[in-house]
Amino acid sequence: MNNSINKAVSSAPAKVILFGEHFVVYDNPAIVAAINKRIHVYAQTNNKLRINIKSGKNSICILTRGNVDLVSIRDKDMSFLHPIFKCVSHVLSEKNKSNIGIDLDIDSQIPYGEGLGSSAASCVATVAALYSLFSDNNRNQVYETSKLMEQNIHKNSSGVDCYVCTFGGIMNYEPDKGFSNIRPKKKFTLLIGTTGVKHSTGEVVSQVKEFREKNSSQFKDLSLKAKAIYKTAVNSMLEGNELELGRMFTENQKLLYKLGVSHPKIEKMIDVCLNSGALGAKLTGAGRGGAIIALLPHDKSTEVLAKISKSPGKWMLVEFDYDGVIVG
Ligand code: PMV
Repeated sequence: MNNSINKAVSSAPAKVILFGEHFVVYDNPAIVAAINKRIHVYAQTNNKLRINIKSGKNSICILTRGNVDLVSIRDKDMSFLHPIFKCVSHVLSEKNKSNIGIDLDIDSQIPYGEGLGSSAASCVATVAALYSLFSDNNRNQVYETSKLMEQNIHKNSSGVDCYVCTFGGIMNYEPDKGFSNIRPKKKFTLLIGTTGVKHSTGEVVSQVKEFREKNSSQFKDLSLKAKAIYKTAVNSMLEGNELELGRMFTENQKLLYKLGVSHPKIEKMIDVCLNSGALGAKLTGAGRGGAIIALLPHDKSTEVLAKISKSPGKWMLVEFDYDGVIVG
């Protein structure tokens, strides 16, 4: 056994889905963007044949060849460590390194279970740190492996979250063409509000699947409308038309409401934004809780934010992230 300790550090950004969540699972396009909130993963090898994962006050310790399902993760707050463990054991076995252990320290600015891509970012950062320990820094491989790991978490994952967390930027996703960058003509001011209501993406995605099976023609109609909104949104970004872009946020939200993935807190926070001067607002991610995004008028953002911040909810202005995963 090699006794030398290798170390690596990596970080990956959170993401927001600007347009097309849920419909993207059924071959519709979407616009997804990385934002400047990050998860950092500090990794080092150990010679104890154990995987130790620590995040704040939470930690788990599992034998390298152990199965995390046998270890009781009773505390719901700790369930986010499960996919991280899966990423570690997958890379160890892929690299034929089952004879070493790993210590991971996770430090996250991304709220968990709020639709901001915390699970994708943690998979991407973990996989990148692990590959880096073994001198492999191929971003495409990081994306492919973390997408596979995400699909273990919810079976119908579209993979868009992992892509944007790996490569950063504002991404246009078209099922037949893949991903391409959108470079908006103007800077847009994006506000995120978190409801504090945690959701399980897998469960909400399953509920939508059921909705689609029971209401196939309604779902088709909603999908067509979502596609039209997406097209207008792409053009308004390219043209720098914030009024139209804001309007598209709100139109997209109406479809998500009909799909049954909104939540009273989401509706309330959206009303606050619109009544305070936001140009548009919608939920982002799976919904049924989680986060909302609002587009603020760029030159009046300070006063609109001041009004919105008086209402309940956690609010944060965010910038788009163009770096994606960073190793080292
Ligand atoms: O809530 P999040 O961040 O996990 O986003 C889920 C996005 C969905 O479109 C609902 C599912 C998917 O895999 O694209």
